[in-house]
Amino acid sequence: MNKIIDLRSDTVTRPSQEMRKAMYEAEVGDDVFQEDPTVNKLQEYAAELLGKEDALFVSSGVMGNQVCLRVLTTPGDEVICEKDAHIFQYESGSPAVLSGIQLMPIEGKAGVITPEQIEPCIRPKEAYYMPRTKVIAIENTHNRAGGTIQPIDNIIRIKDLVKKNNLKYHLDGARIWNASIAAKISVKEYASHFDSISCCLSKGLGAPVGSIIGGSKEFIKEAFRVRKSWGGGMRQIGIIAAAGLYALKNNINRLEEDHQKAQLFAEAIAEIPTCEIDLSSVQTNIVIFKSKTFSVNEAIEKCKEEGLLISEGKPGYLRAIMHLDVSFDEIDKARKILNEVFKKLS
Ligand SMILES: Cc1ncc(COP(=O)(O)O)c(C=O)c1O
Repeated sequence: MNKIIDLRSDTVTRPSQEMRKAMYEAEVGDDVFQEDPTVNKLQEYAAELLGKEDALFVSSGVMGNQVCLRVLTTPGDEVICEKDAHIFQYESGSPAVLSGIQLMPIEGKAGVITPEQIEPCIRPKEAYYMPRTKVIAIENTHNRAGGTIQPIDNIIRIKDLVKKNNLKYHLDGARIWNASIAAKISVKEYASHFDSISCCLSKGLGAPVGSIIGGSKEFIKEAFRVRKSWGGGMRQIGIIAAAGLYALKNNINRLEEDHQKAQLFAEAIAEIPTCEIDLSSVQTNIVIFKSKTFSVNEAIEKCKEEGLLISEGKPGYLRAIMHLDVSFDEIDKARKILNEVFKKLS
């Protein structure tokens, strides 16, 4: 039987033999006492890579974002973000639940919001009856927009606005590695503009679990406390930190291949008359597109019957994400399946 081609997410990868070996051999200690040598190594290595004073290993991207928002805000504050941002759409309302804050979503283009859009949304300082604007948060790459990259000049222009208004600047960099490889801008350069950054080890980099947050020493000290208060203090987690360290050392440069796979997949879609795709949105490893003939669920089911798993992107859109457990040959097969499914039934 043919192997199922799973393009639902870049989180479906399984640790490679080499990664498992690193996990098996990891030295461990009690990380709640900050005595796990592998966790400490991972955090030091990540801080260096991000160009931040310090870094903290957390269990997930959601935990990373939410710990950062908690440290940067006090209850009653407001965070400005894009309407399709992960923190707004997919984090279970946790800014309200965990930090007592609210989000102010602004509709962007391809996931990008501009200082001109943001400035009028910043609450006047003297308006005691309004929430207090505290943070501007952006996402790079932007998941729901299809893995789009935030233009560096816009990142810097928003930073100027942040400084002018004495705010904080957070980056949801779950896929910052993809942005960095595609835009040829170092992760350090991206991170340098933000007070806090959260980035995932468990997506394109192929680790089974974990994210890293980066910031100043003072910021990470407080983040460590928040992580603990949410039950996120774990003990001999060097065995999973080892996978993250392996991922950072070995799996960043190869993301380029995933971007090539996305281009191949997207080109196939563009040739199918019953599908709609904006090729300019395909900038990294995510492809979002529409079927003109099927509902999202029907299309997902039809592809599944042929051995191709895809998922819903934003409502009305289909999404395929490339990753290290899918080969170029499999992308070729996936292209044939798409032709079969969408042409046959048009
Ligand atoms: C942009 C973005 N931020 C955060 C997350 C959350 O990561 P996790 O699933 O590890 O909690 C995701 C997950 O898909 C994401 O795409």
